[in-house]
Amino acid sequence: MSLGGMKDQSPYSLDEVIDRRIYTDEDIFRQEREKIFKRTWQYVGHESELREPGRYRLTTIAGEPYIVCRDQRGEIRVLGNTCTHRGATLVRGSRGQCKAFRCPYHAWTFDLEGRLIGVPIPEDYGPRFRREDFCLTQARVETYEGLIFACLDEQAPSLDEYLGEAAQYIERSCQGKEVIGYNKCLFKGNWKLYQENFGDGYHPPFLHQGMGPAFLSTYEANGEAINLGNGHMLLKYYPPEPQHLDLSKLSAALGIPLTLETMKTTGIINPYPGDYDSVLSVFPNFIVPDIVSVLSVHRLTPLAPDRTLLEITILGDPQDSPEFRQFRLRQSTVWGPGGRAGIDDIAVAEKCQRGFHAKAIATSLMARGSSDERAGMVFNEYTIRGFYRQWRHYMGWSG
Ligand code: FES
Ligand SMILES: [Fe+2]
Repeated sequence: MSLGGMKDQSPYSLDEVIDRRIYTDEDIFRQEREKIFKRTWQYVGHESELREPGRYRLTTIAGEPYIVCRDQRGEIRVLGNTCTHRGATLVRGSRGQCKAFRCPYHAWTFDLEGRLIGVPIPEDYGPRFRREDFCLTQARVETYEGLIFACLDEQAPSLDEYLGEAAQYIERSCQGKEVIGYNKCLFKGNWKLYQENFGDGYHPPFLHQGMGPAFLSTYEANGEAINLGNGHMLLKYYPPEPQHLDLSKLSAALGIPLTLETMKTTGIINPYPGDYDSVLSVFPNFIVPDIVSVLSVHRLTPLAPDRTLLEITILGDPQDSPEFRQFRLRQSTVWGPGGRAGIDDIAVAEKCQRGFHAKAIATSLMARGSSDERAGMVFNEYTIRGFYRQWRHYMGWSG
């Protein structure tokens, strides 16, 4: 299969049209697991969730269950959550603390480094049995600015090389931060629809009307979209000065009277502005929106071509004042299933997925902005084209 299903006389290059089967096809979904999710660095947790030895959280990589834990020596490990005896998962729930992992089935016990340290009635196995042959599997682990990444591919480049230009934006947003909250939901759409949405600066003034259309059109006009290479995307926004907002226009658009004070307390404008806001998307399934003082990391876990788990981890600064911490938590509902913007992004991913049942239209168009640009106005789509170029590279598709 090649990308693009447009007729020969199409004025668009293969870079600019996407075959919609990549969102619906079971076989492509299976190939993505093998060729992308088993070969890329995957976000699996935050160091602040694992402060002491024995703390763990559960995750999956390419559909396989893993335990992310801090061992007795303080190292972070990503261990296969399957007993090497007959397969039972060793721990369940989302997180916890323990001294060792004891299988619920026949009580084989593994230490925090994955070594098998306890087997009931071992003599019945005879002399062939050696404990060291039954350690837990381990993934490669690297951390960057508190974020923990794991990779199943021994041949993959280092995390540093993998992140490339994205690293500086992770550093800018995440340095010294800690986890302050969580949010998660399932949605009935392909994982790539949500990822591409976060590299898409074209939709916000139209889709996110609930955030205030007049505000958004001012806001979005001061943005920039950057293709960072390696499939990573960045949207940069320069928030307007509050005094430049047209309050009467905004009040009319939202149907409520607004003052600068109410806009600050409701989070419509950011009372704690930085020099710019950013939305970083790291290939293939990790997003760091750092916008209107909500810093969060989003991970997409594909469950089926049309079903995705979205996990959002909200970060704050240990130095935050109690008021600012409160503000961050209240603002964090911008994203996720109850969010003022997130709900739109999730709902529209589901709408696109439903739209793909109409088979007469075979492709989606991603042709905004000239194809050789890397950065420019936020309404362009070369960010998304860069994402799909990397997707094709991993999938081994030349077209
Ligand atoms: S399956 Fe784990 S001890 Fe038997
Ligand atoms: Fe959006």
